[in-house]
Parts: sequence; C-alpha cells; structure tokens
Amino acid sequence: MELKIQWFPGHMTKAKRMMEENLKLVDVVVEMLDARIPRSSSNPMLLKMIGEKPKVIALNKTDMADANATKAWLELFKARNMVAMSVDCATGKGVKALFEAVKVAAAPVTARWLRRGVRNRSIRVMIVGVPNVGKSTLINRVIGRNKVMAQDRPGVTRGPQWITIAKGLELLDTPGVLWPKFDDAEIGFNLAVTGAIKEEVFDKVTATEILITRLQEQYPGSLAEKYNIVVEETDTALSLFDKIAKARGCLKSGGVTDTDKVVNMVLRDFKTGRLGAFTLEPAHKV
Ligand code: G4P
Repeated sequence: MELKIQWFPGHMTKAKRMMEENLKLVDVVVEMLDARIPRSSSNPMLLKMIGEKPKVIALNKTDMADANATKAWLELFKARNMVAMSVDCATGKGVKALFEAVKVAAAPVTARWLRRGVRNRSIRVMIVGVPNVGKSTLINRVIGRNKVMAQDRPGVTRGPQWITIAKGLELLDTPGVLWPKFDDAEIGFNLAVTGAIKEEVFDKVTATEILITRLQEQYPGSLAEKYNIVVEETDTALSLFDKIAKARGCLKSGGVTDTDKVVNMVLRDFKTGRLGAFTLEPAHKV
C-alpha cells in the first residue's frame, strides 16, 4: 500500500528564496530533524545551499521518539563526522548543549576571522527544517529568555532580527523552511503521519492503515496495550480499526465502525506521542 501526496511545489518557492537570502547572513546552520524520522525529515538539497558553512543537526521531538533509536542515530551521525545533538524543544531539554555545539562547530570560522584580524564579531546562526519540526518553538524559547532583544521598531522596515543567545552568538529570528521531499512513497508517509505535511493533501485512512501495520511490525504490542484490544495474527489494519473503534466507542448507529473518527483518533494519538514513543526510521536501515 502506498500513500499518495497531492503536493504543489509552487508553495515552497518563496520560502526557499527567502531562506537562500538569509543563509548568506549566517556562519552556522542548524538543521532541525524530527527524531522519529531523521532521514525523511532531512533535505539533501540543503548541503548544496550551505556550501562550506558548518552544520549542526538538532534531533528534535525526542520526547516522542524511541530513546534507543535516538541514541543509535546520534552514534551514526558521529560515525559520519556530523555534529548532532538531541533536543526536546517543548521542554527545552538539550537546547543549551545545542548552542554550545554550535559554538564549537563555528571554531574554524572564528579562526579564519582572527587570521584576518576580525575581532568582536558574533557568530550568526539560523535554524532550518521541514514544516512543523519545531523551529519556531525553539526560537520562541530563546526569545522568551531574551525578551529585550525581540524589539519592534515602528516605522522601520523589519529586516532580519538577531537574538543574542550568549556572548558572541546570535540567532536569526526567522527559520528557514525546507520543503519536504518525496523521492519515494515511504518518505511521504513518514512526513505525513508526523505532521510535516498537511492532512488536506493525503488520504488519512490509507495513512493510518500503513501506520497501524508499521507499528505492529516495529512495536508489536503497543496498539494492544494503548487501546486495550486483543490483536491476533490474522488481524489486518482494517480489522484493527474495528477493534479500536469498538474499544473506544468510535461507532455509528448500529455499531458500525466510524472510520473517520477512529482514523482521526489514531493519527492524533500518534502525532502527539500519546500512543507511545516511536521512531519510524531506525538508524540501521539507512
Ligand atoms: P515549525 O516552526 O518548524 O513549523 O514548528 P513549530 O515550532 O510550530 O512546532 C510544531 C508543533 O510541534 C507544535 O505543536 C509544537 O508545540 C510541537 N513541538 C515542537 N517541538 C517539540 C518537541 O520537542 N516535542 C513535542 N512533543 N512537541 C514539539 P502544535 O500542536 O502545532 O502547537 P501547540 O501544541 O504548541 O499549540
């Protein structure tokens, strides 16, 4: 079964142009990935766009990801000489360490400045990532700590605003929005069920059927436990819809499964982490 996505690339053109302009202003780039789907939420085009600039990966939403899988991903990145940190921007966990890593990653840049006699220049950084990965949550968290810097000056065209994170480190207040890539249906599915793609452009029933099948394969027992149902080997995604619907009262008159209701519930439970902490893309498969 494949999930088809009705995607209009035109929507991303303006965002891409703006990101390219802003990239010119920064010394280090933080690529935020969803820890549940690190591969699908990354965009290979970014490397071309940032050229030689150092990049730090922020694996976000780790509270909703499988902790062992996150560990494996961090090890994989390290083995590939990539700097990656795990964060949970909803609570702020790991954010301080992330910016410490940014400073370390910027060392070659500051060394170059010193050689040229440039002193007292701040390292400038921006966050990029696919929609809904948590970029604004991180920026707002940092702004919250440094309210003084987030000033609006009426009458002045609002250019890029810089938030001072620490002495010598400034963050651009506008994140770069990367477009989701759809090289294959699997990536599309991963992006859809984690919230990077709006629900209007894919079929939720198909997405939930695939999700249920995947969870049964990768995290057997989790659906049975969460919804208090008995799962048998002969069960299909559709028969599991019926069982979940019955257990949760997602029924129409006559006891018929209300598919929309059950699908919306399962998708919401997954997206919000209420269903459990799962990583759809294990590091060893990459
Ligand atoms: P974006 O700028 O990259 O598009 O993403 P944004 O910060 O708007 O975050 C998208 C959603 O992800 C938000 O939820 C946000 O609260 C949630 N989020 C961000 N970081 C984390 C994290 O580390 N863990 C968890 N569990 N959630 C995170 P929302 O439902 O759209 O809004 P709301 O619940 O904040 O109102």
